[in-house]
Amino acid sequence: MCGIVGYIGNKNATEILTQGLKRLEYRGYDSAGVAVFDGKEIQTVKAKGRLKNLKDELLKTPVTGNLGIGHTRWATHGAPCAKNSHPHTSQDGKIAVVHNGIIENYEQLRAMLENKGYTFKSETDTEVIPHLVELYYDGDIFCAVKKAVSHLSGSYALGIICENEPDKLVAVRKESPLIIGVGDGENFIASDIPAILSETENVYFLNDGEIAVITKDTVDIFGKDGEPVIKKPEKVTFSENAAQKDGYEHFMLKEIYEQPRAVADTLRGRLADGMPVKFDDFDSKLISKFRKIYIVACGTAYHAGLVGKMAIEKLAKLPTDVELASEFRYNEPLIDSETMVIAISQSGETADTLAGVRLAKSSGAYVLAITNVLGSSISREADMTFYTYAGPEISVASTKAYTTQLVALYLFALFLAENKNSALPTEIDIVKKELLKLPVSLKKVLELEGEIKRISKKIYKETDMYYLGRGLDYAVAMEGSLKLKEISYIHSETYAGGELKHGPIALIEKDTVVIAISTNKEICAKMDSNIKEVTTRGAYTIAIVNEATAPQHTACSHMVVMPGEGSVLSPVTSAIPLQLLAYHVAYQKGEAIDKPRNLAKSVTVE
Ligand code: G6P
Repeated sequence: MCGIVGYIGNKNATEILTQGLKRLEYRGYDSAGVAVFDGKEIQTVKAKGRLKNLKDELLKTPVTGNLGIGHTRWATHGAPCAKNSHPHTSQDGKIAVVHNGIIENYEQLRAMLENKGYTFKSETDTEVIPHLVELYYDGDIFCAVKKAVSHLSGSYALGIICENEPDKLVAVRKESPLIIGVGDGENFIASDIPAILSETENVYFLNDGEIAVITKDTVDIFGKDGEPVIKKPEKVTFSENAAQKDGYEHFMLKEIYEQPRAVADTLRGRLADGMPVKFDDFDSKLISKFRKIYIVACGTAYHAGLVGKMAIEKLAKLPTDVELASEFRYNEPLIDSETMVIAISQSGETADTLAGVRLAKSSGAYVLAITNVLGSSISREADMTFYTYAGPEISVASTKAYTTQLVALYLFALFLAENKNSALPTEIDIVKKELLKLPVSLKKVLELEGEIKRISKKIYKETDMYYLGRGLDYAVAMEGSLKLKEISYIHSETYAGGELKHGPIALIEKDTVVIAISTNKEICAKMDSNIKEVTTRGAYTIAIVNEATAPQHTACSHMVVMPGEGSVLSPVTSAIPLQLLAYHVAYQKGEAIDKPRNLAKSVTVE
């Protein structure tokens, strides 16, 4: 969802902005633009569609300068077109603004500004901001921005430049992420670390309500009250390489292959042979007070939560509910000080999940965040954050972030179980040993790619598919189906095996593709009955199984056999064939795998 980049220094701002925007493409966008101060005035260039269109526009109307802001827009208010894309400028053209988020009271502000004679060029909520800043401007851009934002409700990350003060770049945020990158004789702003990673590793994370006045040599940060805030830049650990494709055709495939490494990194320092689980700084004395857990998340992270619930209930015997964050926040959940809320979010910025965190905290719950992004909003508001070390995930469809979230949840379930004595030491030991073996197991499952590619060539022209599973396999099937929908645009639905006969079986006809996941020896006979129910009605069934369950599934049309006998950790390994299947089906269809239509990587609006 929308990306921001800003630059002040001695280099060509246009080039830095367009490079930065390129690195933010993964967030999803439908138009782009830059505003650069050319030494005399601010020049704005915008284009609908991909960055290539913006670059073509910049060839027609070149602009260079040492100060500028850039933006990729994901339309919310007003259609995707050049006119609605950012930066937006004030009436006199002297102030330019880029904005992520939504201004909820923009209609009132627009009416007020129109009454004062301001005319609007776009249909966006954002355009009220440059006009408001102009209204309050009397020679000090910092003061004008401070006054302007005091009138805004909603969420915003803003980058602002002013022709009269070309030695300054102003940044301010509320509920939308914004960072400041610190260089040598140059500084940057960005909505996300990858945008500026090639330029600097030192960043300030702005907190809600903070305003920064940035020159090429200084960064001054002020709190809501206008008082200076003293903080140090933090060093980010992502390498620039991690944000590049490294010879893979798509980020998604690269990220699928990074999973053994990502899982090993997430385990490192937290689990070792014969040692109790270390769950970072989590205070084990707190455990006895929790009576109930809510897991709150969206999309793929929600699917990780479904697996987490089963692991926590099995090992820690603590009642656990999993809720979609967008529902949780309005459902009046029963939370009190004996509740723990686990917020799972790859980006740490998802607006609904953040709202869930706030609701939980205001009701007295303890909030544990599981996220992949250092300094993200959710991590800042939670009582404790457990970081997954997946590295930057660029592809919109989540893969390595999902499997590392699963690992985090298994570690937490084990940590609770060890401290509560709620599972037999032998049971705990088996899971720990399996976890330590995971990076190797994942490498072996990745060897199935060739076979999955062949299957994808058979099924990519389908318009509908069904996923089936029971227990943990059901949760995994939901994630597999979401992956397929997201990137191949094929309609797919997931059912628990036992539910099939209660309705969905009516949809099965000759050659309907059904993907059945069966990794649990204890219930594979039941799953096999479900597979037979659909194959006898003509379905083309692809079973994802392991060495223990394979002998049961002779009735399916095609069997993908994963190495090993399966365990409570099967969701991590069986995620891989499903990710690869979605990838290769989308590949055969020629879709834009890393940037699927209408989707955004970081959903910072409700
Ligand atoms: C978007 C993405 C999904 C992601 C979900 C939650 O919808 O397209 O891939 O699972 O947001 O994101 P989060 O960053 O909170 O995990």
